[in-house]
Amino acid sequence: MKELQTPFFRIKEKDLLYDISLLKGALSEHWGNYLIGYSVKTNSLPWLLTYLKGQGFYAEVVSQTEYDLVTRLGFSEEEVIYNSPIKDRKVFESVLLGGGYINLDSNYELDWMEELSSLYPNRRFRIGLRVNCDIATLCPEETLASEEGGRFGYCYENGVLKNAIDRLGALPNVWVAGLHLHSSTQSRTVKVFGALAKMAVQIAREYNLSLDYVDMGGGYFGGRDDKPDYRDYFKEICKELSVYFDPQKTILIAEPGVSLISRATTFETSVIDVKEIRGRKFVVTDGSRTNLNPLVTRHVYPHHLEYISDTSVRNIEASQWICGATCMEYDRLFEIKEDVALIPGDRVIYDTAGGYTMCLNPLFINYFPAVYVEHTNGSLFTAREAWGNDEYLQKNYTETNQEAR
Ligand SMILES: Cc1ncc(COP(=O)(O)O)c(C=O)c1O
Repeated sequence: MKELQTPFFRIKEKDLLYDISLLKGALSEHWGNYLIGYSVKTNSLPWLLTYLKGQGFYAEVVSQTEYDLVTRLGFSEEEVIYNSPIKDRKVFESVLLGGGYINLDSNYELDWMEELSSLYPNRRFRIGLRVNCDIATLCPEETLASEEGGRFGYCYENGVLKNAIDRLGALPNVWVAGLHLHSSTQSRTVKVFGALAKMAVQIAREYNLSLDYVDMGGGYFGGRDDKPDYRDYFKEICKELSVYFDPQKTILIAEPGVSLISRATTFETSVIDVKEIRGRKFVVTDGSRTNLNPLVTRHVYPHHLEYISDTSVRNIEASQWICGATCMEYDRLFEIKEDVALIPGDRVIYDTAGGYTMCLNPLFINYFPAVYVEHTNGSLFTAREAWGNDEYLQKNYTETNQEAR
C-alpha cells in the first residue's frame, strides 16, 4: 500500500459494512418493517452518502443545503426525511409533495400545513411531529445533553403537542402519521430508548393516533465494545412499541449518525518534532484538535500508536504531551505517561474519529484533510482530496482581481 501523506481520515469499508449489517439485522429481527435515514449532519462526505444510498438508506436532512446536497447525489424526494426547527419553505413543499417524510418542530410549520392543505385540497398529506417530553422525570439517572432539557419539538406535558395534533387533525387532507422521538442524552442508555418508545405508545393511545411510522431518531452508541449496540437498543425499543403498534402497519424509523461510522473511521497523523521545554516533552504532530474536536470540549481521544522503528532501544519517558499543528496553545490532545519516547515519523492514529469531525472541521490555518476509503479487498480510493487554496479561494473576490484565484 502506498505511503499516504498525513494527516488524513481513513474509512474502512469492512467495518462500515459490519455496523450496517448489525443495524439492519437488529431492525429486521425485532420489527421487520423498518427504514433507516442516515443523519447527514453527522458526516456529509459525498462518498459516504452515496455509499449509504446504495445500501438502501434514506437521507435525514436538517437544512436547505443538506437537502440540495443529497438530491444532487441522487436521493429522490421519497428518500428524504426532513427534520429541524428551521425549515425552508420551498424544501418543505418539495418534500411534502414528493412523498418524503417531514417531522414538524416549530409553530410556523403548523401555519404552513394549514396553507398547503387548502392550496392542495385533492392531495392527502402524511406528516410527523417531533415530541418533546420530560426525560429527566422519565429517567432521572440519565445524563442529559442539557440540564434544562431538550429544546426541540412540541412539549407533551404542557399540552402544546396536543394542540398541534388538534390543529392538524382539523384539516381534512392531513394525516398525523408519525411521531419523532429523537432526544440527545450524553449517557445514551438502552433504558432511555425504552422510555421514549413507551412515550410513543402513551401519546398514540391518549390522542387516538393511527401511525404510519414511529421515528426513534439517533443517539445510539456504536463501534464500542464496552457499550450497548443496535441489538440491545432495538430489542428494548421494539418490546415497548409492540405493546400498541403492529409492525405490519407502522414503520420503525432509525436515524443513526455517529454510531454507524465510528468504528470504521480513523484520523491518522505523524509526529513531526519532539521538543523539550523546562523538563516537559511536547510531541508536535501534523493533525490537530481542530480536526477531531473543533468545539474544544473533549478531553479523551481514543487512539493507538504506530512506531517508525524498533522501540526496544528507546528511552521510557515519564510524560509526553501530544500536540497539534495549529499555533494555538490549547491545541494539546492528550498526555502519554511512562511510555516509549516518540520520535519524528511515528504515527498517532485516532480511532472512532469520523462522526461530527470529517465535515465539522474549521477552515482554520489548514483546510479539510483528505479522506481515503479502504475497500474490503485492501485497495484505496480517494474520497476527498485535501483542500488547498484552489478550494479556499472559490467565490472570493479582491478589489484588484475580480476573482481572487
Ligand atoms: C434529529 C436527529 N436525528 C439523528 C441524529 C444523529 O444522532 P447521533 O449522531 O447521535 O446518532 C441527530 C443528532 O443530533 C438528530 O438531531
